[in-house]
Amino acid sequence: MSSEKEREKEKTMVAGDHVDVLPLTFLVHLLAIPAIVMVLVWSIHFRGGLSWNSSNKSLIFNIHPVLMLIGIIITGGEAIISYKALPFKKKIKKSIHLVLHATALILGIIGIYAVFKFHNEMGIVNLYSLHSWLGIGVIVLYGIQWIFGFVMFIYYHGVNSSLKSSTLHLHVKMGLFVYVLAVATASLGFLEKLTFMQTSGLSKHGSEAILVNFTAIITIFYAASVVFSAVSPSSTTPHH
Ligand code: HEM
Ligand code: HEM
Repeated sequence: MSSEKEREKEKTMVAGDHVDVLPLTFLVHLLAIPAIVMVLVWSIHFRGGLSWNSSNKSLIFNIHPVLMLIGIIITGGEAIISYKALPFKKKIKKSIHLVLHATALILGIIGIYAVFKFHNEMGIVNLYSLHSWLGIGVIVLYGIQWIFGFVMFIYYHGVNSSLKSSTLHLHVKMGLFVYVLAVATASLGFLEKLTFMQTSGLSKHGSEAILVNFTAIITIFYAASVVFSAVSPSSTTPHH
């Protein structure tokens, strides 16, 4: 190792900046697979599948957990770690971050639309639970965060670099807050749905109940790896 590289390493060790974040980002990709498989097995194998229009209204509901998990949680998580996980130039990573977050947001909006459609077609009132209130908060904040990010880092890119750096700190903090809130909301959603099903006769320790609880636990581990990756200093590119 060249002495310059060693000096650089020493400097970062002093700052506590010696964690190689890349393996953590592999863990994120790895945990995404069981989370997606589990929510699909639940909704397709145990709950009868997904449908936008069906006389069996439960199939409309099933779209909701699938899109919320694959959208906001998994795609949103991959978007957050894109700066740490990908070997490309900053500009390309910025575009990937932006597009993945837009995809997460769109899937999230369709997922919420699906559960409203399910409620309306079943004659069930809307927005009665803590889960649903937090859910609206999550989707609104996620949308604001995206627009704010776009305006600051694309539209006004390079206009005022000191303003940009202070807004970047706010962007990262708000981004992680919204993401953690989304994971908490998803956990409440799993709990709520499982409680509904158990109240109507589903076995409390049956295989479906265990699957739903483990899906939530894997989701939490996935999100924890996302957050740890984001707060760990980058080992390849200088952090903001
Ligand atoms: C980021 C994740 C999520 C968000 C933002 C979210 C958001 C929402 C919103 C806004 C509603 C209200 C719909 C209405 O009132 O018509 C709702 C309903 C519902 N969601 Fe989620 N959801 C998420 C994840 C999940 C997950 C993973 C499940 C697991 C099954 C779930 C289960 C439910 C259930 C059972 C309802 C109907 C009962 C209620 O309104 O509380 N949600 N969700
Ligand atoms: C809801 C949407 C968004 C969320 C939740 C979000 C969240 C985050 C988070 C948590 C970070 C920190 C990543 C890290 O330090 O490793 C970050 C960084 C960043 N985001 Fe976003 N973001 C969103 C949308 C956007 C958009 C639309 C842009 C526009 C290009 C953008 C531009 C940036 C930039 C430039 C960084 C700094 C990367 C660095 O220098 O380390 N973000 N974002």
